[in-house]
Amino acid sequence: IPLNLSLDIELGLGSDDGNEFKRDDFPPPPGFVFGASSSAYQVEGAADEDGRTPSILDTYAHAGNFHGATGDVACDEYHKYKEDVQLMVDTGLEAYRFSISWSRLIPNGRGPVNPKGLQYYNNLIDQLISKGIQPHVTLHHSDLPQALEDEYGGWVSYQIVKDFTEYANVCFEQFGDRVGHWTTLNEPNVFALGGYDIGFLPPQRCSAPFGVNCLRGNSSTEPYKAIHNLLLAHASAATLYKKTYQHKQRGFIGINLLAFWYIPLTQTHQDQVATLRAFDFYMGWVLNPLVFGEYPQVMKKNAGSRIPTFTSAESSKVKGSFDFIGLNYYYTLYAKDNSAALDIQNRDYIADAAILTFPLDNDTSRFEYPITTWGMEGLLEYIKQNYGNPPLYIHENGQRTRRNSTLEDWSRIKYLHVNIHSLLHAIRNGSNTRGYFTWSLLDSLEILDGYESSFGLYYIDLDDPELKRQPKLSAHWYSKFLKKKNFTS
Ligand code: NOJ
Repeated sequence: IPLNLSLDIELGLGSDDGNEFKRDDFPPPPGFVFGASSSAYQVEGAADEDGRTPSILDTYAHAGNFHGATGDVACDEYHKYKEDVQLMVDTGLEAYRFSISWSRLIPNGRGPVNPKGLQYYNNLIDQLISKGIQPHVTLHHSDLPQALEDEYGGWVSYQIVKDFTEYANVCFEQFGDRVGHWTTLNEPNVFALGGYDIGFLPPQRCSAPFGVNCLRGNSSTEPYKAIHNLLLAHASAATLYKKTYQHKQRGFIGINLLAFWYIPLTQTHQDQVATLRAFDFYMGWVLNPLVFGEYPQVMKKNAGSRIPTFTSAESSKVKGSFDFIGLNYYYTLYAKDNSAALDIQNRDYIADAAILTFPLDNDTSRFEYPITTWGMEGLLEYIKQNYGNPPLYIHENGQRTRRNSTLEDWSRIKYLHVNIHSLLHAIRNGSNTRGYFTWSLLDSLEILDGYESSFGLYYIDLDDPELKRQPKLSAHWYSKFLKKKNFTS
């Protein structure tokens, strides 16, 4: 790949307009880290090796929901973790965010620990530490053990709180001497919507078929129930960590959510109110209980008795149950009031919110994500002002391109450049953000697109039996940035 890093010119940003910045403009590690993200099912492969049992993601993939793709092999990181850690070193990563496969560590979700699973995560963590890369570990990334889904309905049952806490306990006990950053749940807001309303995620208990095998659930109550149990499980695991492990292990625990930034489509009062409602229904759903101990007022009003109520003991357990909040921010959307059509596609959760969202250029056919210079900053400023400026991590941010298109991924470079710059502005304005992870290190199994889209800094040709990792131009760019050079030079 030719290394033409005169990006100012290529990106049309100019070199004397304040767009230059470098790694050193951010605090040094450990105060602020740059890294990349992944999740177990999307990269590990080895799906039925060494005692692992299926998760709900395996079931979903094998039912054909990822365009026929599965994570059976994925990037084969299970066997190639040493190579991947070396890639991280070569790229200059300071941290790696990955998730533990619950059903690899504790097959069937409950009961004895699988020694081979334990060995794998010990090896990965040791390898990272030996190379000076911080492990940031997620406990649940949409991959509930199928056995628990079958036994009692998974996240819609309160029983999950106990099983999740026991699983978390094993992780803290076994890995906590080396893992300083724990995230209990990835994107509970998307998981609840995708799994229990729209159906683009397992367990696909949806009312409007989106995936190919929609199982009928009750979308007017189940998304709310699922989030409720997710929050209680998070709080229970976080309380356990804080009480039993934190004083000796000195780590931090948090949670993560998908975060859009919304702006009103028009300046009408209705669209402005709808924009705030969008924020409350998608993000406040998780953030408000964590920060204030209750769901947003507008949700309680619209959803009425369908939204569960926290008892006062639960509320105080959830409130403040985090050391940081992780945000997966990808792009900004317009929001428009849609209260006139309260039964949109018969999906009650969406109907409650009664908003429509649009890409900024209204182009719904575009494959790549829109890039806005101020979206990240807008989101971080909003959280700073409305949620008491909590410690944050950007856990995911990355550009979607077509797989097999080109290694010269200029749109990814532009995306990273613009978003990291926007983040720097937010930090200079006082946002308490502690790290940035791009999604993702490798082209992996993508949640909505199977192997048709790519987010990676490294490309993998799936027809290559060796699954060789090939750097895209963005890998060179990120690396040059992280190795502390001013990439405009
Ligand atoms: C969010 C999810 O956490 C991750 O699994 C997914 O691949 C990326 N976004 C990109 O869509």
